[in-house]
Amino acid sequence: MQDSIRAIQWDGDVLKLLDQRLLPHQEIYIEYRDVGAIAEAIQDMVVRGAPAIGITAAYGVVLAAKHHLEKSPDNWRTTIQADLDTLARSRPTAVNLMWAIERMRRVITQASAEPLNDLLREAKRIHEDDIAANKAMGEFGAQLIETPCGVLTHCNTGSLATGGYGTALGVIRSAYAADKITAVYADETRPWLQGARLTAWELAKDQIPVTLIVEGAASHLMKQGKVAWVIVGSDRIAANGDVANKIGTYQLAVSAKYHDVKFMVVAPTSTVDLNIAGGDDIPIEARSPQEVLNISGQAIAANGAQAWNPAFDVTPAALIDAIVTEKGVVLQPTTGKMLAMMEKS
Ligand code: MRU
Repeated sequence: MQDSIRAIQWDGDVLKLLDQRLLPHQEIYIEYRDVGAIAEAIQDMVVRGAPAIGITAAYGVVLAAKHHLEKSPDNWRTTIQADLDTLARSRPTAVNLMWAIERMRRVITQASAEPLNDLLREAKRIHEDDIAANKAMGEFGAQLIETPCGVLTHCNTGSLATGGYGTALGVIRSAYAADKITAVYADETRPWLQGARLTAWELAKDQIPVTLIVEGAASHLMKQGKVAWVIVGSDRIAANGDVANKIGTYQLAVSAKYHDVKFMVVAPTSTVDLNIAGGDDIPIEARSPQEVLNISGQAIAANGAQAWNPAFDVTPAALIDAIVTEKGVVLQPTTGKMLAMMEKS
């Protein structure tokens, strides 16, 4: 099974991020030594995808701690707090970001003689655990696919969006390796084109054939019987199983229900937010209208047009057949089933 991409790399005392804004045309890693620049990289989509954002923030906390320990060794646990807040504000929907910062915050509060070592160990553990979770989810999700079929995915949920291997794309990798997938369709995912630029690039690199569609073709694809499953990731899952994910996911779920196509959400438990009872309370990031009005700095809309650019939407649990986490599968999610899954060790 191919899995060749690692977009987040810790190298000595430097964080290297593959600049996802430049893919698929250029593969350039940017080096970060400063937490403020890392917060900007998250906001500006150098790195994106919920688990990847969390891992990046964890390494950002390590760099922030190094700075504050050097500047104010007696007071660093206080002076670092503003940097943690800046990181947490960089993108509002992906709860993995706040989850990772919270884990790092717990290490900061421990009175240790080697805080930097402890923080780096925790960041690396968050990174490695994410890859392990993805591989476990890959197996669980692949088992749900009973007969070889076509699948449709949305946005990018692969190695680029995680520590490695991917969530929904991890299931697709595992199921493809088990000969359960006859065709992978990826929709282009406006406005950032994560499907066209990133998912297609990743799958091509790992030699999994992919067919790109425009988002408007998804219902037609389902009507033609070309896919049996829609498989997507998530940025935040509420306690009742409502799922926030890249804008356009909700309409895929509505259409999947109508066409009797199954709908699978794949996300680690770090994406589940039990503090939020239902999807209506999940904060939805509003991004700049310019992202809709332009592509790669080139205006595509008529002068004077306005644009509305919510980055995510919420799919109600009632439209979801399965939520796959590293702890197992929740079929037809409800609050009770989600709580039971989260309590598993
Ligand atoms: O705006 P993005 O590219 O960060 O959005 C990413 C998604 O919506 C993914 O589907 C989600 O984060 C899950 S990634 C494993």
